[in-house]
Parts: sequence; C-alpha cells; structure tokens
Amino acid sequence: MGKAEASQEVSAAEDTLVVVKPDGVRRGIVGEIIGRFEKKGFAVKRLQMLTMSRPQAEEFYSVHKEKPFFGELVSFISSGPVVGAVLSGRDAIATVRRMVGATKSWEAAAGTIRGDFGLGLTDNCIHASDSAESFTKESAAFFGQTRG
Ligand code: CMP
Repeated sequence: MGKAEASQEVSAAEDTLVVVKPDGVRRGIVGEIIGRFEKKGFAVKRLQMLTMSRPQAEEFYSVHKEKPFFGELVSFISSGPVVGAVLSGRDAIATVRRMVGATKSWEAAAGTIRGDFGLGLTDNCIHASDSAESFTKESAAFFGQTRG
C-alpha cells in the first residue's frame, strides 16, 4: 500500500451540529432522528434540549440575517424546545447533510430525514451545520457557556 492510500485509511473524526427543530420535537421523532445518526456510526458527543431565546436564535441564524425569511426563521426556531447534538465521525459535516436531505422537505429524497418526516420549509425537522466555520459559530450560539 502506497503512502497516499495508507493516509486514506486513517479517518480523522470531524464534528458537526444538528438541531432537531420544534416541529421534530413536537412530533416526538427526536429518538428516531438521533438514532439514525447513531446507527450510521456517529458518536453523540453532546446532547441538550433547550428553548432558544430570540437573541440566541438571531445569533444561531446570523448567517441568514439579510434574508427575507430571517424573521420567520427566528420566530419558528424559538417557538418551542429543540434538541441539539454534536455528532462526531468520518466526514461528519457532509455525511450528516446527505442524511438530512434537501432544505425543501417536499423535494427531499426518500430515505433522508426531511424526505421521510415532513413537507415543510421553515418546519423541516432538523438543521445541520454546512461547514466547519458554521459548526463553530452555531455550537457557540447553541450551547453558550455550558460545559460539555
Ligand atoms: P436550515 O437548514 O435550518 O437553514 C436555514 C433555514 O431557513 C432552512 O433550514 C429553512 O428551514 C429556512 N428557510 C425558510 N425559508 C427559506 C427559503 N425561502 N429558502 C431557504 N431556506 C428557507
């Protein structure tokens, strides 16, 4: 085995954040959703249920603050309890996003979380970080000063 091949065998674990949105919590599918990631092989490194304050939600979604749907997004994510989880494993950011599926749940492929559990856009069951930078910012907004 060459050096390049050998290095591909070493799978550096990457972290990502998922947040089961208020619609997912209200519908009682938190266990089902987190279970899919566990069965895939991701480790749950942190897990917390909380209800975001409006300022916390604005910080969490700050990347979207210029978007026309920002107000709706902030109102919805702070409308009830959510469950955040830090998942760790190989290529976690991209792999988890594939498992989550397309933003528009009605277009999301069957077998993905949004494809199997909803028809909404704002209420699309789950959020997942789209980059390492987003993971860092969103985790800080979600967990704040809590230790984990
Ligand atoms: P999420 O992955 O949490 O990231 C931003 C969210 O904005 C997205 O899921 C949707 O729930 C929400 N959203 C609301 N309206 C729109 C829109 N028109 N286009 C994209 N995202 C939208």
